[in-house]
Amino acid sequence: MINNIYYQDLGLVNTSDMFRQAMDEGFAVPAYNFNNMEQLQGIVTGCVASKSPVILQVSGSARQYAHSAMLPHLAAGAVAMAEALGHPIPMALHLDHGSSFDLCRACIESGFSSVMIDGSHLSFQENMALTREVVNFAHDFDVSVEAELGVLAGIEDEVVAERSHYTRPEEVEEFVGKTGVDSLAISIGTSHGAYKFKVKPGEEPPPLRFDILEEVEKRVPGFPIVLHGASSVMPQYVAMINQYGGKMDDAVGIPEDQLRRATQSAVCKINIDSDGRLAMTAAIRKVLAENPGEFDPRKYLGPAREALVEMVQYKNEKVLGSANRA
Ligand code: G3H
Ligand code: 13P
Ligand code: ZN
Repeated sequence: MINNIYYQDLGLVNTSDMFRQAMDEGFAVPAYNFNNMEQLQGIVTGCVASKSPVILQVSGSARQYAHSAMLPHLAAGAVAMAEALGHPIPMALHLDHGSSFDLCRACIESGFSSVMIDGSHLSFQENMALTREVVNFAHDFDVSVEAELGVLAGIEDEVVAERSHYTRPEEVEEFVGKTGVDSLAISIGTSHGAYKFKVKPGEEPPPLRFDILEEVEKRVPGFPIVLHGASSVMPQYVAMINQYGGKMDDAVGIPEDQLRRATQSAVCKINIDSDGRLAMTAAIRKVLAENPGEFDPRKYLGPAREALVEMVQYKNEKVLGSANRA
């Protein structure tokens, strides 16, 4: 159709070269969620400064928030900004947790270079059928597709329920083979949000199930694996939020050493949303607590953006190993 926008025209790339490099060189490509201009600027600035490829990802609700008509232009702006900063980097625009074929198609037709179809709540057969439908459409436009097998644990889940939600490695080979999907999100103990585990003070969160990951790798050697729910819930931001009037007492995330270990495996994409939210919120709370009369959004969104730049650089350099790969 005449009004469609395709990612190649925006200067974006799909994820295939990124994942091949990540697999060969033993790092993970960061996938940072964004909803607005300052988040996008912070992510781009941090990734350019650390010379990292990046997946810019948008959930369905983020797409509504930013407006679907605005998003391709924000993405084109991100590409232009990286060039203006003097170091263009590979950038993908990715739909996070796509809930339907129609949403995936709408994104593909409006500049996304990668989509996730999240059929993890469906039966195995239904998940395969839906994923296959999206793959068939997406591949005609050279758009990458991510799917999910297993359900990420939520904090309310009982231990038994959590177990039954882990990805079953014996299903992976058939799923990948029959769907033709490009990458697969698996459930090995990560979870979404800032309250991932209930741990007592001084206790470590339960380790990720690397045994499941290794079993998956054996079944589909060289196939790109994705980790969702991978924020560390960085304690310095939680402490700052609590210091300046917030209340996030039991917030806890995935320890960094676990993520570093994952980057050495077939995990090629690591999703980070909560840590970016925390960094920005901490900075905004500090500015407003110290300057109660401030009402110029640039005076608190600017420092929030700066905090995100620092967080992104830190992640790329010290956790994901994606720095100096672009
Ligand atoms: O995995 C979900 C992401 O953190 C996006 O969350 O739906 O609130 O934008 P959202
Ligand atoms: P976090 O909530 O751990 O940042 O996970 C984000 C995510 O998985 C987005 O899909
Ligand atoms: Zn997710």
